[in-house]
Amino acid sequence: ADVAKELVKGKAHRVNLSADDLAPDEGSIVLHDGKKAGAYRDKTGELHIVKPTCTHMGCDVEWNDAERTWDCPCHGSRFSHTGSVMEGPAVKPLKRFED
Ligand code: FES
Repeated sequence: ADVAKELVKGKAHRVNLSADDLAPDEGSIVLHDGKKAGAYRDKTGELHIVKPTCTHMGCDVEWNDAERTWDCPCHGSRFSHTGSVMEGPAVKPLKRFED
């Protein structure tokens, strides 16, 4: 419940409390199994859920709606919707949630 409150207060331009609420081609920080997660539903309806913690130094990544990427506000690392590194300084992909 605390995580839910934190999400509601969060900076996301739109808050989805659950990955089930995501429309096709929509990404957001959500609550997944009681934990904060980064979720993107692709155009075919498949969900991609990652741990939204940058693998460089642990900042929270944010969904970039224009580029469909997870971007880190701290030092500029960028990750694809599957979590793979697109731009450093991070070298390790975002952790994926088991689905
Ligand atoms: Fe994310 Fe450094 S903590 S780029």
